[in-house]
Amino acid sequence: MQASDSTTRSIGGIDVARIAELRETEARTFRKARPKSEAKVGNGMAGFLGGVPMHWMTDWPTPFPILVDGAKGATITDIDGNRLDDFCLGDTGSMLGHSPAPVARAIRRQAARGLTYMLPSEDALAIGPLLQQRFGLPYWQIATTATDANRFALRVARAVTGREKILVFNGCYHGSVDETMVRLIDGKPVNRPGLAGEFRDLTRATRIVEFNDIAALEAALGERDVACVITEPVLTNSCMVLPEPGFHDALRRLTRAAGTLLLIDETHTISTGPGGYTRKYGLEPDLFVLGKPVAGGVPASIWGMSEEVAARYGAYNRTKEPGYSGMGTTLSANPLQFAAMHATLEEVMTEEAYAHMDRLARRLDAGLTAVIDRYKLPWHVARVGARVEFICAPGPLKNGGEAEKAHTPELEAAIHVALVNRGVLIAPFHNMMLISPATTAAQVSRLITAFGAVAARLTA
Ligand SMILES: Cc1ncc(COP(=O)(O)O)c(C=O)c1O
Repeated sequence: MQASDSTTRSIGGIDVARIAELRETEARTFRKARPKSEAKVGNGMAGFLGGVPMHWMTDWPTPFPILVDGAKGATITDIDGNRLDDFCLGDTGSMLGHSPAPVARAIRRQAARGLTYMLPSEDALAIGPLLQQRFGLPYWQIATTATDANRFALRVARAVTGREKILVFNGCYHGSVDETMVRLIDGKPVNRPGLAGEFRDLTRATRIVEFNDIAALEAALGERDVACVITEPVLTNSCMVLPEPGFHDALRRLTRAAGTLLLIDETHTISTGPGGYTRKYGLEPDLFVLGKPVAGGVPASIWGMSEEVAARYGAYNRTKEPGYSGMGTTLSANPLQFAAMHATLEEVMTEEAYAHMDRLARRLDAGLTAVIDRYKLPWHVARVGARVEFICAPGPLKNGGEAEKAHTPELEAAIHVALVNRGVLIAPFHNMMLISPATTAAQVSRLITAFGAVAARLTA
């Protein structure tokens, strides 16, 4: 697989000069439509390091960040009055739509009753059983980000197994969890390139193999010194890599045989259904994490564990020396999170909502694939439920190493800005599009039409 071909000077099958030309003209169009925004943020925002309050805001390929006036449902509006069909949806944080009505009501109700107490409220009484029923694990904790939930769950895994090492798959992302920041480069485990201020050799305690490589997984677990495998059921953070038939069965069988726990991170694959990929495909994790949309956009995450892990953790706690466990943050499990999560689980993440999301995601998948076929592009589309991705390389991709090579940043940047200029916003880091319960068929049609127009420009 070769997304970029230096001899013909093409990237993803598109001539580089044409990509540069598209990037330039689309940047001009973007600016022209946003005079107010450019005046306010064109030279960065005062008082912020790098001109933005969070450095990812400069990772968008637009000439300057879109300055948002507001968002509702699956539409986002900037201060110049440009309306965009939002398929980025806060990179999954608002996968259930912007300000779903039940969540907005719950926030309003809680806003007058205190925002954080370090004590439970009555909403919390409902959430425990809801999580048990939905995700099938008996014991839960609430944290504020998926990053934290993963960190805490990994701590429990190490505590109960008495093992230091974890195992990740190449190309993984589980938030800014230090020990997962490892990559395979030319077959060799190394610290993920680009880490700031990291002076430890993370490969000392983290094994890494390619996704879908059962033999490598078996060998890596063979020494029986790995506490936990942490993975998404589908790799969604390096393009999109689907599990091959039998992979999850093998993963579960091999982890059990090695006395290694299995942590399934559903933060992105919750696009599959109301119980995530785990429920739909009958996975049997020991530990489970979900962040981002679980409270409808209010920062919150959940992490759960099996009966057996809970029993082992109880035994561990009875023998460990007293003191801070290293888990927990002050604002976690606050009443605003409970209120928003209760409303989300009960009224927003419903079977009907997911049926709608799935239907439109299928339509989007088919529409984008038809465009790719029409223009004979060497690209493909992958999907996990309501999460769709077009990849500017042939597919399907087998693992993170292949996904890395399939990435085409220059081409993707040109396409993203061209889509914005045609009224469509997709996720900035790769070509991810989400369907929310509020997304309409008309919005999906507009995205397919816009994608077709950009493909026509690129291949004319
Ligand atoms: C699979 C997965 N897990 C965890 C995270 C971390 O989420 P957060 O940044 O909200 O901590 C992400 C973020 O993209 C993710 O994709």
